[in-house]
Amino acid sequence: MFDESILKPEERAIFSLRALYEEYGYRHFKMSKFEEYDLYSENKDFLQSDGIITFNDTNGKLLALKPDVTLSIINNSGACGTEKYYYNENVYRISQSSGAFREIMQTGLECIGDITEKEVCEVCELALKSLQSIGSNFILNISHVGLIDALIEEYGIEDKKTVISSLTVKNAGELKRICTKEQFEALKCLIKSYSSAAETIAAVKKIAKSSDCEKALSELENICDYAAKIGFAENINIDFSLVNSAGYYSGIVLNGYIGGISTRVLSGGSYDILAKKMGKENGAIGFAVYLDAIEHITLEETDPKPYINIALPKGRLGDKVYAMFEKAGFECPALLEPNRKLIFENEQKKLRFFWVKPSDVAIYVERGAADIGVAGKDILLEYEPDVFELLDLGIGKCRMAVAAKKDFCDDRSATLRVATKFSNIARNYYAKQCRDIDIIHLNGSIEIAPILGLSDVIVDIVETGKTLLENNLEPYETIVPISARLISNKASYNFKKARIEEIKKGILKEVNCDD
Ligand code: PRP
Repeated sequence: MFDESILKPEERAIFSLRALYEEYGYRHFKMSKFEEYDLYSENKDFLQSDGIITFNDTNGKLLALKPDVTLSIINNSGACGTEKYYYNENVYRISQSSGAFREIMQTGLECIGDITEKEVCEVCELALKSLQSIGSNFILNISHVGLIDALIEEYGIEDKKTVISSLTVKNAGELKRICTKEQFEALKCLIKSYSSAAETIAAVKKIAKSSDCEKALSELENICDYAAKIGFAENINIDFSLVNSAGYYSGIVLNGYIGGISTRVLSGGSYDILAKKMGKENGAIGFAVYLDAIEHITLEETDPKPYINIALPKGRLGDKVYAMFEKAGFECPALLEPNRKLIFENEQKKLRFFWVKPSDVAIYVERGAADIGVAGKDILLEYEPDVFELLDLGIGKCRMAVAAKKDFCDDRSATLRVATKFSNIARNYYAKQCRDIDIIHLNGSIEIAPILGLSDVIVDIVETGKTLLENNLEPYETIVPISARLISNKASYNFKKARIEEIKKGILKEVNCDD
């Protein structure tokens, strides 16, 4: 017998998940690391990342290092009856942020064929039990892509893309901006936080009139009832921030979090569209468990009222932000003492504030070092962190603009040289105009670039306009208005929802606008 204590958390998980899936009649599916590139190029819409690592075999055929397991399993499954497979494989992706090659360890399962309510409930049960086998404090969020689509149609909203993106980050302000009063009053329940799945369903029932909506809602209700019946009432939650971002899912969508892990541990859902596209008659549902996420599991906080960690942007904006927290009743007197400390606690209120560089707030929050924080919209647009954007604080107002020398004359026949700190924002802005640009990434004092002939224009923050004026530059176009936003780590939001919502509501009163 070997000593099990030598196993790392992710290795232990591989064994316990394997035993769990075998017990439910799932068969092990072992696959090669390589697959013909065509499979992925034909189904790019269904992949989570664009980058695929390719190479030629000895016969010159283009192969890919597998970026996804589901496509291969569906491609290789037979068409008869219901097939149940589980796998333990590595997938290979190119990181969107750094461009680096990444090897990601996944365990998961796929159920393909005649998918009835029974199969869907069983997959949700296995998702709950998978999370339970890794940590005792866990949450499975479920959503329904069909329900969101049907509601968008029922309320006649044209800008579906913006509705979906505002739901993904729980940005009620953005939803309000693109909706009529009636549309917003109805759809805001998809962002609002409720204390139980039953309460969420009751709220959505009031606005769901079409038969498609009712059908999808009853699917969600049945899953929640089933989860409650098998003892997981406290662990299942409905969360409409789960949407069809990858174009992968068609019905139920799942994701799971475990206390002590600051990123998503499980994700999946039903993907009938993909199965049909690949010639399979019936449906398919499955999920993956991200074993790499488990590697960094920390001891769970047993305190019933754990600290809320808050990242504040150092500097002028930070002072204003802290004043808002203080006025809302979330103060930390130690923070005002004249010293050079960076971390401050209010032990009684269990609040821990820390000052970080404004452009780093989003990283602290995305990675879970901070539960919440305040970051400028410029940083959120530039780095696209995977966080919830809970509130527009209405301070730190400025705009992202294109500026150039006063005598600048735009020559559409030439490549436009753009100097900026915000390469991603600039690239997206000009891509929409089909403009050929040459980005010159600088880290500050951007205004000098056109003066010295380094660039034709700059894309930068304009607040008072004084810097432009004093350097003989002029703003030409506004790209987007900017202000400070309250953001939250997604895992923290799941486990500390009541307190984060309490802070949001307190600050909302200071901001003086409605939810
Ligand atoms: C920002 C921005 C502009 C200036 C605009 O610079 O990059 O230079 O503020 O403000 P104004 O419209 O009120 O003049 P920041 O102070 O962050 O310095 P840096 O870009 O040089 O790092």
